[in-house]
Amino acid sequence: MSTLRVNLKNNADNSYDIKIGQDMFGDFISGLKDDPIAHSYVIVTDSNVRELYGEKLKSLLDEIADKTLLLDFPAGEMQKNREVKSEIEDRMLEAGFGRDSALIALGGGVVGDLAGYVAATYTRGIPYIQVPTTLVACVDSSIGGKTAIDTPHGKNLIGAFYQPQSVIIDINTLTTLGPEEIREGLAEVIKYGIIADYELFELIEKKTGDIFNYDINLLSLIVERCCRIKGDVVENDEKESNLRKILNFGHTIGHAIENHSNYTLTHGNSISIGMVLEGLIAVNLGIWTEDDLERVKSVFINAGLPVEIPFDIDPEKLISSMKIDKKSRAGVIEMSLPEAIGKIYRIDGKYAVKIDDEIIREVF
Ligand SMILES: NC(=O)c1ccc[n+]([C@@H]2O[C@H](COP(=O)([O-])OP(=O)(O)OC[C@H]3O[C@@H](n4cnc5c(N)ncnc54)[C@H](O)[C@@H]3O)[C@@H](O)[C@H]2O)c1
Ligand SMILES: [Zn+2]
Repeated sequence: MSTLRVNLKNNADNSYDIKIGQDMFGDFISGLKDDPIAHSYVIVTDSNVRELYGEKLKSLLDEIADKTLLLDFPAGEMQKNREVKSEIEDRMLEAGFGRDSALIALGGGVVGDLAGYVAATYTRGIPYIQVPTTLVACVDSSIGGKTAIDTPHGKNLIGAFYQPQSVIIDINTLTTLGPEEIREGLAEVIKYGIIADYELFELIEKKTGDIFNYDINLLSLIVERCCRIKGDVVENDEKESNLRKILNFGHTIGHAIENHSNYTLTHGNSISIGMVLEGLIAVNLGIWTEDDLERVKSVFINAGLPVEIPFDIDPEKLISSMKIDKKSRAGVIEMSLPEAIGKIYRIDGKYAVKIDDEIIREVF
């Protein structure tokens, strides 16, 4: 037998910029003109965002690129699947897009996750740029390089870690969102405050109404602070071995609730309840104070987010689905819990705490 070794020490630089501003499309395109990342560009978007911003971006892009293509699929989580991924790929192949192409993901998290995964695998990987247009996408899904599609077995089960070349956030696009979409994002924003930024939490506490009035300066400030937190976390732990787990606060119980509602409860609503229940676990364990938890609950209520499970459910069912979640290890449920507003509890250097089933039963 002979053994030959292929040495592949991974020292690639996957760094990228997140640009946040108003009316960013012009600057974005002139930046691409000065510093192109490809000869041809495909914009992937959904049916709603195509009408609002897709055509406009395409016409700007037409002025600087050899070849452009604007592709859309019907809006909604239901479309984040293998079939839609194949359709996009086939249309790109038919149009002759090769390895010298780049992809622009224009839209919410559904577009970002799906289009990012297309970019990760198209001709074994082409560069892509995230242009998020929902609050969820601005503060969460566009940063960190997690791309994925859903399968009948569960959400986000097939995908890749694939970082974008840059993230372009035009805050003005958020003004066409409805209050429901703002609320979805706000649940994640409040989470950032609880896990890492007391001042951000306080700002939301004081100015919830202004957020729903689309105060652009406030939205810019909030998005910037959240991106900074997510960027820092991902920078330190890209593949979620420890620190990145703090972003899962509220998501262990939240995902189980979302799942058992058959997705009738949105992700934002589910994690809002999840954060309250996981917060209660932290209080019961003596890690966190009841006063802080009450304060957090008031902020959720003020934002129109739920703090209790709105249907009857057997706690055992929730516990078993938490055990098969991607986040649990060998059937042991783990959670990241706050010890103060703005700080996650850490034990033996670890940010995820193993939680006994009995403790979870207690809070239900
Ligand atoms: N990759 C990650 O790290 C990560 C993190 C969080 C969420 N996600 C994923 O993100 C998805 C949820 O993202 P989402 O909440 O943005 O949903 P979404 O992409 O479905 O957008 C919500 C709705 O808003 C519409 N929309 C988008 N931009 C708009 C605008 N500017 N004005 C008006 N309407 C607009 C969309 O067409 C859609 O109907 C889920 O699939 C989730 O799994 C991924
Ligand atoms: Zn989330």
